[in-house]
Amino acid sequence: MSATDTIRNRLWIGNEWADAQDGRTFATVNPATEETIADVAEAGAADVDRAVAAARAAFRDGKWRRMNPHKRSRLLWKLADLVDANADELGLLETRDNGKPYFEARRIDVPSVAQTFRYYAGLADKVQGDTIPVPGPFLNYTLREPVGVVGAIVPWNFPLTLAAWKVAPALACGNTVVLKPAEQTPLTALRLGELAAEAGLPAGVLNVVPGFGDTAGAALVRHPGVDSIAFTGSTEVGRIIMLEAAGTLKKVSLELGGKSPNIVFADADLRVAVKGASMGVFYGKGEVCAAGSRILVERAVHDEFLDGLKGLAAKATVGDPMAPTTRLGAIVSEEQLDRVMGYVDAGRRDGANLVAGGERVKVNGRGNFVTATVFSDVDPAMAIAREEIFGPVAAVIPFDDVDDAVARANDSLYGLAAGVWTRDIGKAHRLAAEIDAGTVWVNTYNQYSPASPFGGYKESGFGRDLGFHSALEKYTHLKSVWVALDG
Ligand code: NAI
Ligand code: MG
Repeated sequence: MSATDTIRNRLWIGNEWADAQDGRTFATVNPATEETIADVAEAGAADVDRAVAAARAAFRDGKWRRMNPHKRSRLLWKLADLVDANADELGLLETRDNGKPYFEARRIDVPSVAQTFRYYAGLADKVQGDTIPVPGPFLNYTLREPVGVVGAIVPWNFPLTLAAWKVAPALACGNTVVLKPAEQTPLTALRLGELAAEAGLPAGVLNVVPGFGDTAGAALVRHPGVDSIAFTGSTEVGRIIMLEAAGTLKKVSLELGGKSPNIVFADADLRVAVKGASMGVFYGKGEVCAAGSRILVERAVHDEFLDGLKGLAAKATVGDPMAPTTRLGAIVSEEQLDRVMGYVDAGRRDGANLVAGGERVKVNGRGNFVTATVFSDVDPAMAIAREEIFGPVAAVIPFDDVDDAVARANDSLYGLAAGVWTRDIGKAHRLAAEIDAGTVWVNTYNQYSPASPFGGYKESGFGRDLGFHSALEKYTHLKSVWVALDG
């Protein structure tokens, strides 16, 4: 089957395809070939209005939130099965839209999406409150109720995965959703909307409005009919969303950028640490919010570590995303590649030592590619050590001892994730406790599970994706009910 046969390129509202009211479209481009994959309907404020109206109606009529929860669970499970059944197509769409290697999209992203829907299918019939022992002749209990219409705004790095991280828990808790995919990568989200209808989700429960951030995204954030915004993207836009949501006092959760430290101690298994650090910063072309892009290395093993990382960077094959040997696919857009190259130039200008990569390349004469890049002699004050690059660029920085490692790790506006490599179990737990980050990986990196919460400290945002309790906090209201027993 060719993915072109199944490309969905219109708005998905109330379980039907629709054009934008003003007829506008935008091109979504394959960054590996620079070819337009499809012209996609571009949602404007009027279209967001329609989608929100559909979601509100579906919330109010109770078909979803009051559905027998075992049945709601079964429908989400069915959606997971449909994601698996269409995994080749979804993987191909993701690869063409985003530029990531097909084996990653097909073997990692798509199965994780199915897994996320299955995990939250299991939550759908466990959304429950407590009975609370209050003094006096009263019965007091809590109800966990869906918040209403959830606006989900997601980025282009893991388009379907991050959509599932929001959509699955929101739906499991009985909410209805308007999903705005990133303008660079709208295709898998549209197909997900259609698969949800095929699974039996009632009209209006999941709506998908492709479009741009400052139009469709902003309209969703400002809309009085939207109760909550669940966002993943840049810290810059996270700030705008928080300001804009103030107008209607929406519940907001923000999963933002990072500059995550990956800390290698001299007592680590160095071969394993080098591999882990390389995967931590180069996986997904480094277009990963949790990328371990600040690699802190204890001075005694710094040179040996750097040699190892250089070697792995050289082996990270840049190529056609469809080729099984490719490790680094295409950077999502020319704009993003320009941004990455801007940081490579800044690193050089600021006096860091470029020891691997840093080259913009074409594959078969086209596309937005860059080789795996390593800088050493990086001063913590340099832009490449402080700012999120969102590309395959590692900044290696030496440190002296445990205290120095902790201080350097926490010397960041961000706090999304961190890695620690050591054989000393005490040191590992001490670091896990002292680092300001939502996730700490010890002797591993980039592990995710729908069961484990993920999100930020500091300017990496607030609120947690994934997990059990975090989903309830994010996607339900807690209502307290008092009943007089002596009446
Ligand atoms: P972005 O934050 O602008 O885009 C993410 C999503 O937000 C997209 O769906 C976009 O349409 C939407 N959006 C943009 N402006 C909006 C607004 N005013 N109101 C509502 N929604 C809005 O990210 P962009 O511009 O694509 O990438 C720029 C940089 O952001 C990257 O270089 C990277 O450093 C960072 N980034 C971080 C991500 C993360 O997961 N932490 C994901 C994507 C980008
Ligand atoms: Mg932007």
